[in-house]
Amino acid sequence: MRLLVAALCVLWLPFEASAVDLLNGRLINKRCALCHGTFGQGAPGPNSPRIAGLPKDYLIEILNDFISGKRDSEAMVMASGLNSLTEQDIHDVAAYLSEIDLRNDPRFVIPAASGDAEAGETLFMGECRRGCHQRDGYGTPRKGVPPLAGQHTAYLVYSIKGFQARERVHDDDPEDPTFDPLSDSQIADLVAFVSSLDTPTAPRYAELPEIELQTVMAPTTRTAIRIDDVVQTVARIPLQWGVDRQDAIKAMSRRAAELDMKMIGRQDVSDDLAKQGITVPYMAIFQYCDAFESSEIVANNPTFAAYMPCRIALVEDAEGQDWLVMMNLDMLVNHRLVEGQRATAVIRANQQLLEIMIAGATGEEP
Ligand code: HEC
Repeated sequence: MRLLVAALCVLWLPFEASAVDLLNGRLINKRCALCHGTFGQGAPGPNSPRIAGLPKDYLIEILNDFISGKRDSEAMVMASGLNSLTEQDIHDVAAYLSEIDLRNDPRFVIPAASGDAEAGETLFMGECRRGCHQRDGYGTPRKGVPPLAGQHTAYLVYSIKGFQARERVHDDDPEDPTFDPLSDSQIADLVAFVSSLDTPTAPRYAELPEIELQTVMAPTTRTAIRIDDVVQTVARIPLQWGVDRQDAIKAMSRRAAELDMKMIGRQDVSDDLAKQGITVPYMAIFQYCDAFESSEIVANNPTFAAYMPCRIALVEDAEGQDWLVMMNLDMLVNHRLVEGQRATAVIRANQQLLEIMIAGATGEEP
């Protein structure tokens, strides 16, 4: 019997990651930074949760849930190439992110949310504190319980709504009733209290994990968006096998229309040159704009006008491979220049553009 148990243990032994490679984690995190920011700090609104400082095992579990489709975010899976990451890659990026501690960093403090924080405290102490998210709201990493303090308020609300609707699983229990009795205003109170927990006591700037330099092994997958150091500001993805230019262009137009992003311009660079008798590799540039959101963002800070209209280029490289290329807009997540609602608009614009690019690369059928 003992032997059998021993044998089972061996069989059930979870994936044993070899030593964590933080450099690999940092390279992979560049793709995550497209939407979550360089520090994994996320942004206000429901589309860019904070992922820095989440417990490593919790991160691994979530990433596997996104890969298996248990949680759904196609743009995230494609843009980060999650499907093609190895288990080691996932361990590395999870370890990297879990080491980033944003607590007490005045740049990343969660602003106090509106709601009755005192009433929220009572709810929190009754339900959330017990052995799980803890009195300080920073969770129990050892048990894989994530912090709530430091998470963006709108994302917490979005998550709680997801638990109520059983679209997301809370506490590993698909029927977990914790949030069922909560009204919208109680949810607001609860997150108002949680937002008050992320108050700096000893301000300091967070640092990215230190990396011992070793052989650089970039995670190379053909399906993933690549962000190269030499062209730091560019995100690009090849057209997938079997997707031709016309498929890509159609798919991009379709997705843009679905997202209410208007295609406001198209420049057929190589075709125009061909008319003058000059032959160059294929290149066309597509411009997108959501006029209302753009004007909102620019009203807040004219600098952002430099990024508008948003562009995606379709270009052929020397080997005849077609690529979709756009500016790496992670600086829109990283900047501290727009606040609140407008930051949400910026993040949305960034993610919509990525979605259009991914639709093009995969030639998505409607
Ligand atoms: C295209 C944008 C995009 C990219 C790139 C991206 N994510 Fe996300 N991520 C999202 C969005 C949007 C959500 C929220 C989805 C939801 O909860 O429904 C999310 C949610 C998450 C969550 C869940 C947080 C929680 O508390 O439940 C984790 C963890 C996460 N992402 C990690 C990563 C990692 C690690 C990478 C890089 C390997 C990455 N993401 C790349 C957009 C992105």
